[in-house]
This record gives sequence, C-alpha cells and structure tokens, in this order.
Amino acid sequence: MATLEAETEVWCSATSQEGAWQVAETVWQPAFPYPKPLSLIQGLISQASRPGDTVLDFFAGSGTTGHAVLALNALEPEATPRKFILCSSTEATTKEPGKNLCRDVCAARISKVIASDAALAHNSFAYLQLDRLAPGDAPFDASCVQAFQLLTLRLGQVARPVPAADQGIKILVQNAGDGVLTVLCHKLTRAALDAMAVLPCRQLRVYSTRPATVREHFAALGREVESLSLQKALLHAQVMPRRKAQTWPQSAPQSL
Ligand SMILES: C[S@@+](CC[C@H](N)C(=O)[O-])C[C@H]1O[C@@H](n2cnc3c(N)ncnc32)[C@H](O)[C@@H]1O
Repeated sequence: MATLEAETEVWCSATSQEGAWQVAETVWQPAFPYPKPLSLIQGLISQASRPGDTVLDFFAGSGTTGHAVLALNALEPEATPRKFILCSSTEATTKEPGKNLCRDVCAARISKVIASDAALAHNSFAYLQLDRLAPGDAPFDASCVQAFQLLTLRLGQVARPVPAADQGIKILVQNAGDGVLTVLCHKLTRAALDAMAVLPCRQLRVYSTRPATVREHFAALGREVESLSLQKALLHAQVMPRRKAQTWPQSAPQSL
C-alpha cells in the first residue's frame, strides 16, 4: 500500500485511477469501477470534520471513506480517532444474485487496511447486514388485532376473534397453574388502567403501546406488573418456544 503521508500531499489532483489502484491494492478482486481517490476523500474529511467525529457515508461503494478515516487517524495518533459508518447496497441483481459488494469489496478492504499498518492495528469494525422483512413480519406494521390473534394462538393454542366491546383491554388468557393473567391493552386510558387494577390474579402481564406508563401506574398503586410493549407481543408471539397445550388452561376470551 502507498504511504498515506505521500497521498495526502497530492489530494487536489487525485483521480479515479488513483482510487482504482488503491482498491486493487487492498482488495484485489473483484474490481470496483470509479472508486473515489483516497487522497481526495481524506483531504475533504480532514477539512470538514474534527478528531472524534463520526463520518457517515450512505453510498460507501468500495469503502474509500472508511479507508480515508483510518488513514487520517494513523496520521494523527495523538488526536481522538474519528469513526465511520459505511452503508451500501450489495449490488446483487437477478443476473448476479450472490453479489455482495459490502462484504467482498468494502468490508474486505477495511479489514485489509487495518491489517496492513501497525499504526491501525488497534482499530476494529462491525459488519452488519440488513434483512428485508416480509410486511407481515414487521412488528411496527402490525395492529392490535394482529397482536391479539398471535398472542391467543401462542398462549391458548387457538386464534380467537377479537372481542368487540371492551374498555381498552382484552383478556388473552388466565393461566390457572401459576396465576398469571395476560392482558392486551390497546387503548391506554384511565378507564383501562382502572379496569386492569381490579382484575383478580396473582400476577398481571400487560401488553400495551405504552409499557412505561402501565408500569408507573401500578408502581404508584404499590403493585408489580409485567409490562411489555405491543411490539414485544408480536415478536414473542412469533419466536417464543411453544408450550405444551395442557400447560395453558383454556379460559374463554372475555371483554370488559
Ligand atoms: C459512486 S459509488 C460510491 C463510490 C465510493 N465513494 C468509492 O470510492 O468506492 C455509489 C455506491 O452507492 C451504492 N448504492 C447505490 N444505491 C444505493 C442505495 N440505495 N443505498 C445504499 N447504497 C447504494 C452503489 O452500490 C455504489 O457502490
């Protein structure tokens, strides 16, 4: 790899050809077309940020921005290091479904840059991948009705229709074995809080859109409650291990 000091001196006249050599030096294969020259990006970051700043590049491509941040950090060992966040598409297509630019070019380049210079050896980075979710799996898209049905399916082994009339709470299931009453509160009002407070049970578990408020309300009453978010209801309903049917006595759904 060319010395970083030399490159910073010529950043004004940098070209894509320079960038191509730098990617080739650090990644080798596969080639990346028109990468930005390291010295240009390094000079811009040096001018536009301060030590300790985090530099974000949402179209990271071959990772020149991360490389430039590391190079700057190596030049300024006494300063608080800059950090970087790089995001990019994999560039996978129907013709090349297995293509992963982020992993094979960008992350590979950053790893090699860190490994190539003793002054950078203490650096590290995390490689994270976003997955595309089916709409039905996105908890923030799901409604209270979906949460109710998923939870009744999970807790009572059968998906029940959502009771129509209530005071903002829907009783999902009462487990006679351990005395836990599970409730879904879809409309957190004073009436709903009051209704939940008088439910006869040893332990109350509430799923709601405002779990902190529910917790605070019960704490003010001197009572403990297991207060969980609606989002958690949806995630739990999908990923909690199945319990045996007989451990969940079937209480009829109620509405208040
Ligand atoms: C011009 S290149 C960036 C070059 C980069 N500065 C370098 O030196 O390697 C733009 C990159 O953005 C990526 N990209 C395109 N659309 C994107 C999107 N919607 N989200 C994230 N990255 C995207 C492309 O895959 C491409 O690699």
